[in-house]
Amino acid sequence: MINSDYHIILQDVESLVNSGISRNDILAAICDLLKNKVYHYDWVGFYILDELKSNLILGSYCGKVTEHTIIPVGKGVCGQVAQSNKLKIVQDVSQEGNYIACSLDVQSEIVVPVIKEDKFVAEIDIDSHSPSPFTNDDEQFLTMVCQIVSGLF
Ligand code: SME
Repeated sequence: MINSDYHIILQDVESLVNSGISRNDILAAICDLLKNKVYHYDWVGFYILDELKSNLILGSYCGKVTEHTIIPVGKGVCGQVAQSNKLKIVQDVSQEGNYIACSLDVQSEIVVPVIKEDKFVAEIDIDSHSPSPFTNDDEQFLTMVCQIVSGLF
């Protein structure tokens, strides 16, 4: 079972997804919600797959401005997840060979795929300024967020 704080946030995510506002507005509100409610989430964003060009395109995000608005599939932690379709945690980014640095403050990262009808469509990318902050709770929580969000694609 994930902790009760995460359960409450999941209810808010569900309400947003069912709110009838545009997909971009929903994703932006989810980024704000996650960044504001979870202490160790310092940058939260959605990358959306551009299947024709094999690129990830940055959609809504919350946190420092980044120049990495287009990431080729396979490149960086985000690109690896687009290829494997599997959640990836990097507890210490200095130890990750295939990593794209956004800010020197970032110490760790988690990327979770959004899968729709067995196909990768997007992902949540979260950077943290804390060392090794991600637990099984984050994995389960963010996997559930991605399941809920997949209904938007
Ligand atoms: N660090 C990511 C790039 C995206 S930024 O974190 C916003 C990566 O290695 O793919």
